[in-house]
Amino acid sequence: MATHLDLKRYELFGWDYEIVNPLTAEEVGWHATWARRTGGPLLGLACGTGRLLCRLAEAGFEVVGLDLSNTMLRLARRNAAKLPPAARGRVRLVKADMSDFDLGRKFRLVFIADNSFRELNTRREMLACLSCIRRHLAPGGRLLITERRLDPSRYPNGRWSFGWSRPVAHPETGELVWRRGEVRLSRGGRRARGRFIYKIAHADGSETIEQCPWTAPMLQKAEYIQLFARAGFRTRTFADYKGVEDDGKGRLLCFVCEPRK
Ligand SMILES: C[S@@+](CC[C@H](N)C(=O)[O-])C[C@H]1O[C@@H](n2cnc3c(N)ncnc32)[C@H](O)[C@@H]1O
Repeated sequence: MATHLDLKRYELFGWDYEIVNPLTAEEVGWHATWARRTGGPLLGLACGTGRLLCRLAEAGFEVVGLDLSNTMLRLARRNAAKLPPAARGRVRLVKADMSDFDLGRKFRLVFIADNSFRELNTRREMLACLSCIRRHLAPGGRLLITERRLDPSRYPNGRWSFGWSRPVAHPETGELVWRRGEVRLSRGGRRARGRFIYKIAHADGSETIEQCPWTAPMLQKAEYIQLFARAGFRTRTFADYKGVEDDGKGRLLCFVCEPRK
């Protein structure tokens, strides 16, 4: 089972996810292209607010979204409820841990989008997740995992931070919320420890601060591929959502994994 410390950021502030990380047409196109190649049904792990699932359901695919955060699943249900009835009927959401799940059925495409595989804190959890995925893949199925490439030059002295954002109004309470963040790499750069800090201005004029710590293993491309191979997958890596082969320099690592027979 994954350690769940890192979920606080999503439980309290999941509503800002789509504002901070807007979904792009290229990302939708990449997943839709693969869905057309493999056929459905599709399984999105760590699906968050379900924004990508909803686009794929609109494109005609049956999709199951799995996430561990109650808030993210609530937002996903809300996004699905806005779809036309036929597309809405193609979306199912499940609360489960992506390193320990059994849905009792197979999928032609499984995906973990937008840097979400490394929500899993250890290689052991990652392997457990990959092993669950293998059991859920139908013959001819594929696994897509998209992560951001680790760029050590982004962390001078092993640190990186960003200052207070512009305030964003909470969509339900109307309270203004500011966000800042910091990350520190362990010695050797093998693990990142970070925290998001949120400042909330309440209607009575008071302010509170919430700290949301997180940790993540910092894997290089070759280490991901090794991990996928240990779990029984052959991997191709692309540098972007257009399907350009990776040349070692791109911002993204778009992995396409095929189970070995
Ligand atoms: C970066 S956000 C999701 C982004 C989403 N994949 C997208 O493309 O919009 C990461 C998500 O991972 C979920 N998560 C973290 N650990 C998880 C776990 N062990 N099992 C399932 N979901 C998890 C969080 O609740 C959060 O919704």
